[in-house]
Amino acid sequence: MPMKIIATIAEMQKASADERALGKRIALVPTMGYLHDGHVSLIKKAKDHADIVIASIFVNPTQFGPNEDFERYPRDFTRDHSLLEGAGCDYIFYPGIKEMYAGANRTEIKIDYLTRNFEGTLRPGHFNGVALVVSKLFNATLPHLAIFGQKDYQQTLVIKQMVRDLNFGIELIISATYREADGLAMSSRNVYLSPSERLKANIIFNALEKAKKAILSGERQRKIINATMHSVLRSVPEIRIDYASSALADSLDEPDIFLAGDELVLLLAVYLGRTRLIDNTLVRAPLSSASAEDKFVEEYI
Ligand code: PAJ
Repeated sequence: MPMKIIATIAEMQKASADERALGKRIALVPTMGYLHDGHVSLIKKAKDHADIVIASIFVNPTQFGPNEDFERYPRDFTRDHSLLEGAGCDYIFYPGIKEMYAGANRTEIKIDYLTRNFEGTLRPGHFNGVALVVSKLFNATLPHLAIFGQKDYQQTLVIKQMVRDLNFGIELIISATYREADGLAMSSRNVYLSPSERLKANIIFNALEKAKKAILSGERQRKIINATMHSVLRSVPEIRIDYASSALADSLDEPDIFLAGDELVLLLAVYLGRTRLIDNTLVRAPLSSASAEDKFVEEYI
C-alpha cells in the first residue's frame, strides 16, 4: 500500500477506524518533523509492534515558549516524506495549525509533580503544550500503541502519567536514544550548530558517561555525581549549563544520597553557543559496595 498523507482530523479518524475494523494494530509515532535516523528508528520499532504505522508531523506552537525557536524550527516536508516512505511508514498525519487549534481552545492538561524540575521549570508551560498536543494526536489517530524516544526523558514520564490518569488505553513503548558516531544524541536542532560547535558537542555524551562510570564504581552522593558532569562540561568554554543533574528515574526525586539498587537518570540541558541541547542516560546504582569494588578493580587491572 503506498504511503498516504492525511491533513484533516476527520479523515485521519476515518482511516484509523477503517484499519481497526480490518483488525489491524495501529502504532503512532508523533514528531515535529525534520526527521533524522533517531525518528526513523522509532518508525522501524513501530513496524515491529504493529500492522499499520502512522507518523505525525506537526510543529506544535503550544509547547514553545515566547522566546523559543518555534518560528525558526527547521522544516522540510519533502525530505521527511521520502525518509518515512523509505522506512515503511503507512500514513503521515500532517495537519496545519488551524486544523489542530481551530476554535477557542479552552482546555489545558497539566501533569503535576513530574514537571516540577528540569525542563518543567526551565520551560514553563512546555509540558502542558506537549500533553495537550499528544492527547489531540491520540484522539485524531486512534492508535493501539505509541512510541516515544528516551531522548526526551522527562517527556516520556509525563506522557506515561497522562495516559494512566486519563485512561487513554494506549500502550507506550520508549525507544533508546539514537546517537551519532561520537555519541551526540541525534536531534532536529543539531543543524543549528556551527561546524566548530558540532566538533565539541560530544562533550555532553562524555559528561553522562563519566558520571555513569562513577556511579557504577560506587558513587551515590548526588552532589558528587552532578559535579562530575559539571566539571566535564566546563572543559568547553562555549557551554552554558542549564542543569546537569541526577535523579530517581521514576519520580525525578533528588535525594542527597541514592540507595544501592536505585534506578537513576542522569539528565542535562546545555546551551552550546545559541543552541539548547538535552540528553540523558539511565544507570542502576550497584547492589552492593562489594560489586562496586569488583567493578572498580576490573577497570584498573
Ligand atoms: P520531536 O523532537 O520531533 O521528537 C519526536 C520523537 O522522536 C520523540 O518521541 C523524541 O523523543 C524522539 N527522538 C528524538 N530524537 C531522538 C533520538 N536521537 N533517538 C531516539 N528518539 C528520538 O518530541 C517531540 O518531537 C514533541 O514533543 C512531540 C512528542 C511530537 C509533541 O509535539
